[in-house]
Amino acid sequence: MFTVTLKTSGRRFAVAPGETVLEAAQRAGIALPYSCRSGVCGSCKAILLEGACGYPRNPPLALSGSSPARHAVLLCQAVPLGDLLIEAREVTSVEDIARRQLGVQVVGKQQLAPDVIGLLLQPAPGETGFNWLPGQYLDVLLDDGKRRPFSIASGPRADGIIELHVRHVAGGGFTSWVSEGLQVGDSLRIEGPLGTFVPREDSERPMVFMAGGTGFAPVKAIVEHFLALGTRRSMQVYWGARSVADLYLRPLAERWAREASNLHFHAVLSDPEQAAATGLRVGLIHEAVLEDQPDLSAHDVYMSGPPAMIDAGRQLFLNADLPEDRLYYDSFDYAPDVLAMILAGRAGLADL
Ligand SMILES: Cc1cc2nc3c(=O)[nH]c(=O)nc-3n(C[C@H](O)[C@H](O)[C@H](O)COP(=O)(O)OP(=O)(O)OC[C@H]3O[C@@H](n4cnc5c(N)ncnc54)[C@H](O)[C@@H]3O)c2cc1C
Ligand code: FES
Repeated sequence: MFTVTLKTSGRRFAVAPGETVLEAAQRAGIALPYSCRSGVCGSCKAILLEGACGYPRNPPLALSGSSPARHAVLLCQAVPLGDLLIEAREVTSVEDIARRQLGVQVVGKQQLAPDVIGLLLQPAPGETGFNWLPGQYLDVLLDDGKRRPFSIASGPRADGIIELHVRHVAGGGFTSWVSEGLQVGDSLRIEGPLGTFVPREDSERPMVFMAGGTGFAPVKAIVEHFLALGTRRSMQVYWGARSVADLYLRPLAERWAREASNLHFHAVLSDPEQAAATGLRVGLIHEAVLEDQPDLSAHDVYMSGPPAMIDAGRQLFLNADLPEDRLYYDSFDYAPDVLAMILAGRAGLADL
């Protein structure tokens, strides 16, 4: 067993042979940031101050481009080769919430957009629902042992109902079934809550939210949380999609803006014809954010959606002086088993 020490808090935990730093921290009840658990999104990036790690599972793709002098590590993939001293953000707000599995029933299914289904899940009779923080996600557990992650689009409710927004991925096994086969009354097994994309309330800074497609789901949960708190902080909410039909809850976001004078909603379409036909803003969403907020040094930024948008946003926003520890995101990558298969098929990556 090796020991990992977190420099900022001084907390220590043991890592079993073959375990990643993230897995060991979770076993010890310490919440370190993560999202994809596959080595591609970079949200679990930390600084290795002492010791060495290996990457026997997926290659640490999210480190490509990092300065070697900073000794960055990806906690979701790094397996210690000795004792480690690490500088990592801790997300203590999620630590007290127990993660567990439960059976749920589909109590609502609605076509929100041509390729987006809204689902309402309720704990099955005899099951107790779990608690979660707005913005967290769950895994749907499939019969073959695989998992499919989806963000919870709502905060916790007294009736235990969980809202999901599921985009149908071309060639995707689970999302095709949700779209074509799943019916109200069907049962699913889920595990949650997961992830560290949650509201940071220890700040008075203005907030920027950027959602791409169904990335609106966790942003909706977090924005609704801040609205319920009656925050006076400025909230700039950007939602980008290809066509107007993909902005499937635009009336809700427009209502937020009407009812809260500190919230401004910006819809951005990437398809110029659609934008021209609807009068909405045209362009790429991360560029729209930067046009309006060229200096992000005093902001907190929350973003979720497709990996390409998250990658582009991260680069641009850090260049606009946003401190890295004030950028919170969930990247909607494919499930860890799919990414592992894709990466295993790409020659040369194992040497990264
Ligand atoms: C933290 C997190 C939160 C998320 N939240 C949401 C959300 O709220 N809403 C949402 O819509 N999505 C969300 N996603 C994305 C969602 O999890 C995926 O779209 C989903 O897992 C796809 O499942 P599937 O079974 O339909 O597709 P899969 O069967 O997993 O296939 C996905 C794609 O990969 C291709 N593929 C599969 N195997 C291979 C292979 N070996 N080589 C090459 N290509 C392959 C398939 O053809 C398909 O195009 C989230 C992802 C993460 C990580
Ligand atoms: S790279 Fe580790 S959680 Fe995404």
